[in-house]
Amino acid sequence: MGKKAELHYDGEVFDIPVVTGAENENALDISKLREESGLITLDRGFKNTGSTASAITFLNGEQGILRYRGYSIEELASKATFLEVAYLLIFGELPNKEELEKFHNDIIEQSFVNDDVKKIVDAFPGAAHPMGVLSSLTSALTAFNPDDVSLDYTRSKEEMYNPIVKVMGKIPVLIAWAFRKKNGFPLEYSSKTKNLSYVENILQMMFKRPNKDYIQNPVLVNVLNKLLILHADHEQNCSTSTVRIVGSAHAGLFASISAGISALWGPLHGGANQAVLEMFNAIKEDGGDTQKYINKAKDKEDPFRLMGFGHRVYKNYDPRAKIIKEAAHSILETLGIDDPVLDIAKELEKQALKDSYFVERKLYPNVDFYSGVIYRAMGIPSDMYTVMFAL
Ligand code: ACO
Repeated sequence: MGKKAELHYDGEVFDIPVVTGAENENALDISKLREESGLITLDRGFKNTGSTASAITFLNGEQGILRYRGYSIEELASKATFLEVAYLLIFGELPNKEELEKFHNDIIEQSFVNDDVKKIVDAFPGAAHPMGVLSSLTSALTAFNPDDVSLDYTRSKEEMYNPIVKVMGKIPVLIAWAFRKKNGFPLEYSSKTKNLSYVENILQMMFKRPNKDYIQNPVLVNVLNKLLILHADHEQNCSTSTVRIVGSAHAGLFASISAGISALWGPLHGGANQAVLEMFNAIKEDGGDTQKYINKAKDKEDPFRLMGFGHRVYKNYDPRAKIIKEAAHSILETLGIDDPVLDIAKELEKQALKDSYFVERKLYPNVDFYSGVIYRAMGIPSDMYTVMFAL
């Protein structure tokens, strides 16, 4: 007999089964609640509700722990490549050499995007926000991949393989095109794709100039691997939940992912990375008075929030923010960049972490607080940051 809880209501007692997770965390299984008691639950913002059982990511917000399939995020970010981590998240185990090679080759095979999509990219105004461009292009893929309009293939793991490699092959092309369009570069594929790692190929597709070889910079490859690993999965957050909800109606692969991209765009979620950097810049231009902005964030009459601070589930330092902060330092140092924005970030963090307003509410830097500093050093403009998160 498993554990159970009892609900006493209106003179009756209802048993509620307790399910136990991988780390002995307990949850009430209320799936029969309405049927048995006529009651439903009200949980604004789903703070107490899981919509499925999942063995992918473990997160303890109080202790600041994040694990993918049992591996700590710190270990994966320091030792693995993004493609290995993607494989781990999807299939449950790290790949051996052959498995990784096959996965990569299958992704390359599926990275073709119909040339007509370029016409759509060209039709967007130059100032279009790349997140809007990306979600539209992702949705447009439904027209060019009619087989993926229905989600019938989710019936088996084998059938899911194709959509997985398709998404991993095509989305980077769309992202590179959104970036190239913004920069006025012609839309093209990289050459010699097979000799490049997944991340090297993304960098080449984004940054290669016409008629010039693109020389890989190992510092950029390493840091992009890290960022992609740190953003690869985060339980049932706003964008992931959106993809699941849209997909549950069998709306189709690209339509569901496009909806998730739109959810990610919001500044309280993935859009925070752009908002953070714009906030740092605004503070710099306003004379660098960080305390003034801390005070604004605390003022309940002022709608300003300290962007990149606070999190739905982390009530401790977001472990990803720690890794990104170190990576930001190291990339600026290696590339010989002296960016005053990093000093503003560090000063804001220092002041907030000793201020009772932030301490009492357990508000710490989140994954987005330092990521923009890195993207900026890589030569990526701020409205592309959330696109990199989507990647
Ligand atoms: N600056 C100032 N005050 C804040 C901040 C902040 N960044 N975040 C939360 N608070 C305050 C709220 O005003 C509230 O105060 P009150 O109790 O006096 O009313 C209290 O802290 C709790 O805030 P909630 O909004 O209830 O916390 P919630 O868990 O719902 O929100 C969220 C989390 C949306 C991330 C919030 O902290 C926020 O807006 N942060 C800034 C945006 C941001 O960085 N988002 C990225 C998150 S990471 C990601 O999605 C990838």
